[in-house]
Amino acid sequence: MSAEWLMFTPVLKIEDIVMKENEIKAKARAIAGQLTLEEKIGMIHGSHLFATKGVERLGIPPLVMSDGPMGVRQEFEPDHWKAVGYSDDYVTYLPCNSALAATWNRELASAMGSVLGEESRGRGKDVILAPGINIKRSPLCGRNFEYFSEDPYLTGELAVPFIQGVQQWDVAACVKHFAANNQETQRLWVDVEIDEKALREIYLPAFYECLIRGGSLTVMGAYNKIYREHCCQSRYLLEDILRKEWGYDGVVISDWGGVHDTELAAASELDIEMSVTDNFNEYFMADPLKKAVEQGIIPEEKVDKKVIHILTLMLRLHMIEGNGQKIRKNGSYNTPEHRRAALNVARESIILLKNERNHLPLSGEKVKKILLVGENAERIHSNGGGSAEIKALYEISPLMGIKRMLGGSVQVDFAKGYDSGKKEAEGDGSWQEKSLEDGGGRTETQDRGENLSKQRALLREEAVKLAGKYDTVIFIGGLNHDYDSEGLDRSDMKLPYEQDVLIKELLQARPDTIVVLIGGSPVEMGEWAESAQSIVWSYYVGMEGGYALAEVLFGRVNPSGKLPETFYKKHTDCSAHCIGEFAKEESVAYREGIFVGYRYNETFGVEPRFCFGHGLSYTEFVYEDAQYHEKDEKAYVICRIANAGAYDGAETVQIYRTMEGPILNEGKGLGKMKPVKELIGFGKIYLAAGKSGTLRIELKERMEGCRLAVGSSVKDIKILI
Ligand code: BGC
Repeated sequence: MSAEWLMFTPVLKIEDIVMKENEIKAKARAIAGQLTLEEKIGMIHGSHLFATKGVERLGIPPLVMSDGPMGVRQEFEPDHWKAVGYSDDYVTYLPCNSALAATWNRELASAMGSVLGEESRGRGKDVILAPGINIKRSPLCGRNFEYFSEDPYLTGELAVPFIQGVQQWDVAACVKHFAANNQETQRLWVDVEIDEKALREIYLPAFYECLIRGGSLTVMGAYNKIYREHCCQSRYLLEDILRKEWGYDGVVISDWGGVHDTELAAASELDIEMSVTDNFNEYFMADPLKKAVEQGIIPEEKVDKKVIHILTLMLRLHMIEGNGQKIRKNGSYNTPEHRRAALNVARESIILLKNERNHLPLSGEKVKKILLVGENAERIHSNGGGSAEIKALYEISPLMGIKRMLGGSVQVDFAKGYDSGKKEAEGDGSWQEKSLEDGGGRTETQDRGENLSKQRALLREEAVKLAGKYDTVIFIGGLNHDYDSEGLDRSDMKLPYEQDVLIKELLQARPDTIVVLIGGSPVEMGEWAESAQSIVWSYYVGMEGGYALAEVLFGRVNPSGKLPETFYKKHTDCSAHCIGEFAKEESVAYREGIFVGYRYNETFGVEPRFCFGHGLSYTEFVYEDAQYHEKDEKAYVICRIANAGAYDGAETVQIYRTMEGPILNEGKGLGKMKPVKELIGFGKIYLAAGKSGTLRIELKERMEGCRLAVGSSVKDIKILI
């Protein structure tokens, strides 16, 4: 900075520049008063695939948005889903939200949000279309990897610090998709039939937390209908609940193509209509709305209200007025710190599902020749999955991660073992142009690698033959974004590409084969889970994922991830399937009510493969004591815990409100019952080997008429209070 420049810079204190909330609102109203109808209309609909129109004469910039949850998406042409293709939009590829949830770590959520916020600013964005917080109602929903959990409390607890991390960079988070958007099949038209209790206890609480406690400045409406109204123009959701009941004054943005009617959208509390087509002037809230206002069909105040919300957002982000630009934060992207943050989340997200006879960790000294089998050992996942796709600066595959960690003295070889066949178009965004066709999504029934059986048999034979020649064999398979994807639901939980046969044959030839699965949702493991000694689960864990996996396998990192969802034996053990409906086209009945995920399995005694909250460690934690306390209207559990094993490690202590036996309050039927367990608190503690410590866990509610179960998973309860 030159001395000359400094001389002319007025000395302003931040307090002088930052406007107070009531001033912001008054200012927004004053600016709105100067706008013509045409200018206002320009601000409330897309005039670019990811931006609205600004008003140059008044210094109002366009509002620039971008996907998405795992990093800032690549740049597209303004009116075409064609990637611009420059080299300036490579970014940090972050772990998906399911992975973040598997860490059960609020600080990491805040750190990951901060990376996303800073990169969004670095890329010149105002709104980042994240996080996705829908409840994982069924393991078959194709977008589950973008979401946190089947549990609303865990979702809210992690999404709130994530949002605050994003927004400290003067960028708005956009919580999506509001609400009950839990399947991809016919996602544009399906009508969700849900009872009010389930809506309020399961599907809405995380939104309330994110919008009201977390202060998310924007929210995205969902594609689906609820109570026969499309969510993006729903009077009940947007007006009655969001604005009136919750008092939300942020900006409501439609999902891309989620608006269907000018009058309904104008009358609703939706503020901005976005879509996937380039006929911007024909959008429902564009020329048709202007005309309706001019003809007196819709009062102009409806438009004003939306514009005032948008101007308020711009003022809050310091995009306009009051010397705002001077104090708006700058961001950076692809920094070493961001990569480190991605690695830290990845490390804590990997879950050790099974480890008989302490088969893992592998010893770096003993291992001399390793064979990695399976396509996911070397497959890149960042560039797929729909709008969550990322143009990653790089992505370390497990094969690269293991080689990078072991250096040149260990022989690491790879055998494909199975072939996934043709891949969905990846990374070019062209699918999005057609994403409004056929109801917006389908259930995929066929294996997309059909006619590959012969080739797969050969690949299997080769891998199994090779397995005998190595001291260590690691299978790395699972799913990929041909399955975990926007616009698609799976038809079952089976492992695709004949992987079950391969794993069984490998385990027969080498019973010590380590099984690693990578995916966004659970898969069936029944054919081989009993015989495998070690099973490791990894969600899509970002650009350093392969390295984090290597660290876990070789014990440089002691795994501490815990399942944020139930791993069923098969999808029919999930309540959405055995009680309710899933992936129906016109309407879908959520008959299971509040009995979603573990709430169902625990209450009705249905054994999962691995339960909610499960995750092993290389060390052993002893729960020494747990006591309940109340102070200043708040409730806590203070838990004393010891690391009795030989490795330093971290444990997530979980607190469940428990009822003995399904509680039938009055009358009969699911509607009146309470689940036997519900998560109401958790905390993570790091303990060196041989050390003990105390954890103070704030609870969601006071202990009234129930007992508290303190444990390391929903099933593994150590202390009852
Ligand atoms: C998705 C949203 C996404 C939007 C913009 C839609 O298809 O449902 O989550 O933010 O596209 O890409």
